[in-house]
Amino acid sequence: MFLEQVQVIDQAITSRHSVRAFLDKPIDLSIIKDILKVACRAPSGANTQPWKVYVVTGNKRQEMIDRVCAAQIELFTRPELAEQHTASFSYYPTTWISPFIDRRRENGWGLYGLLAIQKSEKEKMAAQHLRNYQLFDAPVVLYFTVNKIMGTGAKMDISMMVQNVMIAAKARGIDSCPQAAWNHFHRIVLEVLNAPDDEELVCAVVLGYADPDHIVNTFITPREPVESFTVFLD
Ligand SMILES: Cc1cc2nc3c(=O)[nH]c(=O)nc-3n(C[C@H](O)[C@H](O)[C@H](O)COP(=O)(O)O)c2cc1C
Repeated sequence: MFLEQVQVIDQAITSRHSVRAFLDKPIDLSIIKDILKVACRAPSGANTQPWKVYVVTGNKRQEMIDRVCAAQIELFTRPELAEQHTASFSYYPTTWISPFIDRRRENGWGLYGLLAIQKSEKEKMAAQHLRNYQLFDAPVVLYFTVNKIMGTGAKMDISMMVQNVMIAAKARGIDSCPQAAWNHFHRIVLEVLNAPDDEELVCAVVLGYADPDHIVNTFITPREPVESFTVFLD
């Protein structure tokens, strides 16, 4: 591969980061179709291609925001409703250990710090969390679902597809944020999508043009050095 191509691909990968403030600027649906056409070259176990993608814009997007924001606001005021909104699979551990908990805290407080939200300001935290369900104002949201009959491996396949979507988008000047936040409200999401009963929500990805002036988009997360997570055997 030519050095130039390596640089272009590396640049698309390394310049992607989670964007949490978007401009009020639509994305042409033909661009979304192109992104999906490229992204579905992702590998999958035995080429099962277990992904299903709902591209949500316009009135449906607004209906989703209204329904889920109402549920999240109700949950904030009545925490006892949490049982009604359990995710269909556990993305995070129930018991956290170091170093994951440390990184999670660093990430959370880094983001809140940038937004000048203090530890005691629960309402401000809730308002920022709600931004997830307002899509951070992005014009497009993709919901990835999988047939419930498929195993855990299918979620790995879909993760590869999701990463491809975000990189193919980035190469076209479009930013993204993957979102697991919707998983607590998977029942509402699947209902709004009119998804059949045999489908499970895996995650969402918002797509849009980043707001270059919003401070939240200056948040760049660190990575551990390669040597810290790699074992070289010879
Ligand atoms: C599957 C998945 C789900 C995520 N869910 C959310 C989410 O619900 N809300 C959010 O703001 N960020 C979410 N993130 C973004 C992570 O916080 C982010 O990827 C991480 O902090 C690394 O930062 P970067 O994406 O900017 O490199 C999610 C990331 C992944 C991979």
